[in-house]
Amino acid sequence: MNNLDFINFFDSIEDDSLTVLKGLDSKTQKKINSKYFYDEKGSILFDQITKLDDYYPSKIECEILEKNKDSIKKTLPSKSVIVEFGSGSNQKIKKLLDAVDKPIEYIPIDISKEFLFKNAKDSAKDFPNLKIKAICADFDQIDVLQSIIGKKKSKIGFFPGSTVGNYSPEDAKKLLINFSRILGEESFLVIGVDLKKDIEVLEKAYNDSKGLTAEFNKNILNGVNKICGTIFDSKLFSHKAFFNEKKSRIEMHLVSKKNHIVKILNTKIHFKEGETIHTENSYKYTLSSFQNLAELSNFEIIDVLKDKRSFFGVFILKVKSI
Ligand code: TRP
Repeated sequence: MNNLDFINFFDSIEDDSLTVLKGLDSKTQKKINSKYFYDEKGSILFDQITKLDDYYPSKIECEILEKNKDSIKKTLPSKSVIVEFGSGSNQKIKKLLDAVDKPIEYIPIDISKEFLFKNAKDSAKDFPNLKIKAICADFDQIDVLQSIIGKKKSKIGFFPGSTVGNYSPEDAKKLLINFSRILGEESFLVIGVDLKKDIEVLEKAYNDSKGLTAEFNKNILNGVNKICGTIFDSKLFSHKAFFNEKKSRIEMHLVSKKNHIVKILNTKIHFKEGETIHTENSYKYTLSSFQNLAELSNFEIIDVLKDKRSFFGVFILKVKSI
């Protein structure tokens, strides 16, 4: 494919076993970083989750992008470079590329090489006349990203899937500030945000009736086994997801079904019956709490697109001049 370039800037020197050990060896809440969810099986499972009736965010976000095509076209500049932070589902970027007027280049950025390259290849097929530059990098490699993306052209960042909700509000602020610096003044950011709603609806989205989310959550242990050589038995854990009202977030946990021990790097980790490993958070914002966050992070609000029930918001933001 001659419209596709691939550039690698990401060299992880992180020792995964040590990272996992640190999260589990603590006297406080045990945790595992959510990046271990997305091995091949995890990615397939997540894709299936996004199609479930119970898991509403992906479908509603796509509908919002589709229904507001015309206003998106009017609001966003033509002949722009589209920068996608994280390379998610091809369906969503397709919707944005279809809405924006004459995009000149598409730059997906992700730390997962395989995922990034596969998705970029699919997009190169879907848009044979569009220049695509897939960059393997972390979002905090600001200087590198700025120089590749270029300063002069008009830019539109894209961060769908309410992935911003998987960061604590404090980290989300840091992340958005990074985005504003990577994109530069006068650039836009289109960002999907799951909104606070009835607890029942929220909890059902993370406890789907087909049990796919439970399977996905437990699969994180298989991901850890593969990377760290541990022998977690995912059958010894059950899935638990609930809405923490005070923190306005869904919390995902794995509950140990009995007392048992798992060894990592020669350290024995004890699990008590009922003890949990915290695997993921998904913060839910109100329209105003997200507006506040965006304004504290170098952005002004240009438009908020949402569905009739206000289940999900697609915010169009613009980098403030500094
Ligand atoms: N960004 C998604 C969300 O927070 C990720 C997600 C959906 C997820 N279901 C999950 C993460 C289950 C872990 C477990 O909605």
